[in-house]
Amino acid sequence: MWAGRRVVLGVSGGIACYKSCVLARRLTEAGARVDVVLTRSAAEFVGAVTFESLTGRPALTSLWEPGRALAHIRLPQDADLILIAPATAHLLARMAQGLADDVLTTLLLARTAPVLMAPAMNDEMHARPETQANLERLRARGVVFVGPEVGALAEGPSERPGRMSEPETILAHAARLLGGGGKLAGRRVVVTAGPTREPIDPVRVVTNRSSGKMGYRLAEVAWERGAEVVLVSGPVALAPPPGVTLRRVETTSDLEAVVRSELPRADVLVMAAAPADFRPSDPSASKRSRIDGAIAVPMEPTEDILSGTRDLRKAGSIIVGFALETGDALAKGRSKLERKHLDFIVVNDALEPGAGFEHDTNRVAVIGRDGTPQILPLQSKREVAEAIFDAVERSLG
Ligand code: CTP
Repeated sequence: MWAGRRVVLGVSGGIACYKSCVLARRLTEAGARVDVVLTRSAAEFVGAVTFESLTGRPALTSLWEPGRALAHIRLPQDADLILIAPATAHLLARMAQGLADDVLTTLLLARTAPVLMAPAMNDEMHARPETQANLERLRARGVVFVGPEVGALAEGPSERPGRMSEPETILAHAARLLGGGGKLAGRRVVVTAGPTREPIDPVRVVTNRSSGKMGYRLAEVAWERGAEVVLVSGPVALAPPPGVTLRRVETTSDLEAVVRSELPRADVLVMAAAPADFRPSDPSASKRSRIDGAIAVPMEPTEDILSGTRDLRKAGSIIVGFALETGDALAKGRSKLERKHLDFIVVNDALEPGAGFEHDTNRVAVIGRDGTPQILPLQSKREVAEAIFDAVERSLG
C-alpha cells in the first residue's frame, strides 16, 4: 500500500509531536518517501535531526533553507498525501484563514494533494466555537480529519475530545483516503472472525484454537479499501481495527443470528470464523463437580451457517468461505465450495508450519468457482487478506 508513495508529514507544535516520530518511522518502513515539514514550535518539541534520522530525508523547517527554494511548492504538489499530525488549534486557524506565514502554511496553501489532519489540543481549545468553525471550514474545503479523541491529555484526564489519535489509527485513515477508490468503496462487507464457544455448564465451554487474527486483518483491509465493514467476532484477545463496526458473539447460534440479520444487505461476506461444529446438547444449569466422578457430555452438531443462510444472500453478492483441513486440502476445499455454494474458498492445511490458527502468517490457496487454485506463498495474514480482497474485487460487478 505505501511502497513508493510520497507523503508530506507536516508537524505543528504540540506535545503530541512525540507520536509523529512513530508515524514517520512506520511510513518509511512501509516503503513511503516521507518529507517532514516542521513549524518553529514543533522543532522546539522534536528536532529536525530526529525526523531526518527516521526518514533518511532532510526535514524542512523554514522557507529560507539554502538549496530548497521551491520545496514549499513542489512537495505539496508532487505528494500523494499531506498528513498533518499533530494539527494544533493555531495551525487550523491559520490554514482556515489561508495564511502563508511559515513554511508549513505556505505549503498547505500551494497544495494539490489530499490532506488528512490529526488535531491535538487542550479540550477547552477544541470545544471553543472559533476552533469548531475552523474545523468546519476546512472540512467544507475537502480536508479530512481523524480525531481528536477522548482520553488523557498532557495536563490530566479529560472526558472531552482533544487527544490526538494513535499512530495506528491515523495510518489506517490515511490508507483509506489513498486506497479507497476501488470496487470495495461504499460496499458493505461483513467479516466473521474467531472461534465460538458453547457452554457445558455455567463455567466451562467447548471451543477451538482460532485466534481471530485472519478475520481481523480482513476487516482492516476491507475498511482501508473504502468499504463499510461489520466485523462479527467471537471471543478473542484482539483490538478491533479502526473504523469497523464490531458485533460480538459467543455461540454458533449467536453468530448465525447476526449473519442472518446482516446478510441481506451485504455485498461481500467473508466467513473467516471457526464456529464450534458441536455443542453440548443439554448444558447443565449448575457447575458440575469433580467429586461426582467422570462425566459424559453428549454433543449435537451446530447449524451450518453458510448453507443455512443461502436464501438470504443479496443478488450479486460475493461469498467467501474458509477451510482449515488436514491433508488433501485442495480437494476438500473444492467440495466445500460446491456444497456451501461459495464464490471463493480459502484453503489451508492445519499441519503446515507457520499456517493456520494462532500464527501471524498463513499459507493458503484461494479457489474460485472454476476450481483453479491460486496458491499463495507463506506470508503475513495482512498480505493474505490483501490477496483475498484482490480476488474479490476482480469478481465484483
Ligand atoms: N462454517 C459455517 N457454519 C458452521 C461451521 C463452519 O458457516 N457451523 C463456515 C466456516 O466459517 C468456514 C466454512 O464454513 O467459512 C468451512 O468451515 P468448516 O469448519 O471447514 O466446515 P464444516 O461444514 O464444519 O465442514 P467439516 O465437515 O469439515 O466439519
